[in-house]
Amino acid sequence: MSTLVEKINKLKEEKNAVVLAHCYQNVEVDEVADFVGDSLYLSRKAKETDADIIVFAGVSFMAETAKLLSPNKKVLLPRLESGCFMADMINVTQLREFKALHPNIPVVCYVNSTAAIKAESDVCCTSSNAVNVVKNIGAEEVLFLPDTYLGKWVEKKLNGKVKVTTYNGFCPTHLRLRVEDVEKSRMEHPNSKVLAHPECHHTVSEIADFVGSTKEIMDYVKNTDFAEYTIATEKGVFDRLKRDYADKSFYLLSDKLVCQNMKWNSLDDIYNALLREEHEITLDETTSKKAMDCINKMFEITSPKQIGRV
Ligand code: 13P
Ligand code: SF4
Repeated sequence: MSTLVEKINKLKEEKNAVVLAHCYQNVEVDEVADFVGDSLYLSRKAKETDADIIVFAGVSFMAETAKLLSPNKKVLLPRLESGCFMADMINVTQLREFKALHPNIPVVCYVNSTAAIKAESDVCCTSSNAVNVVKNIGAEEVLFLPDTYLGKWVEKKLNGKVKVTTYNGFCPTHLRLRVEDVEKSRMEHPNSKVLAHPECHHTVSEIADFVGSTKEIMDYVKNTDFAEYTIATEKGVFDRLKRDYADKSFYLLSDKLVCQNMKWNSLDDIYNALLREEHEITLDETTSKKAMDCINKMFEITSPKQIGRV
């Protein structure tokens, strides 16, 4: 009798499908994934592939972005429940109110946003290229949404040269971390390097040894030869680093670092989505066109090197 992994792989072949998995997914998902990485890297893979079907093991804004970049492909989200709390913190009415409060200022939206929000923003960014996007816009001030902590981190990285006025969204997963967690971890593992995501509260980022996106954190481990690393981002990153670097030690800063939305997908869900071709992402034409302009603007003002790859 064939295993679930074998069954998924057979279906993939029969249907000319690929599975893209975000590195916050349950690590078992990698067994059937054609590509594993951060959200933008996966979207680019979605665009490049000649597959007819893309199963996106991630959250809904990522599957939407893949659909925007590959409108003629069937994009499936294995579990409809997998939204993103941060992306859901702003709707179009709230965005319009925010813009009305700060008129005539370019709007930068983090890729963790719905297609409708992208459609009403000027340029998109990811955590890997946010600093360059804001810098390359060439404005003295930008509006940044939904994540206030990423926006303020960008402002700091640019030494305050660009005023970043942020919407008050946040990631509940990263915001669970406190300064006390870092202090406790440093007592237990004094030689370990603390690597934090810029979605963390600024008090945590300020005391980390390194702050960077998912890709930058993984690259930091790859390119340094410390013996110990403390991971202050979602558990999936920790699980993959532990699996891939057996000669190094990793600690998860807190066991609260789990994004429930990212953990919905099981191998069963991927199998069912592929078998039944269910939970297809559809977007209306007007929204898609405007959202694509916002994404294309990001490509225009950043070099391909900025795009996240794990
Ligand atoms: P990436 O853009 O690095 O894939 O991160 C997505 C995310 O949800 C971070 O919390
Ligand atoms: Fe959204 Fe936070 Fe989960 Fe990322 S970790 S998908 S920002 S809720």
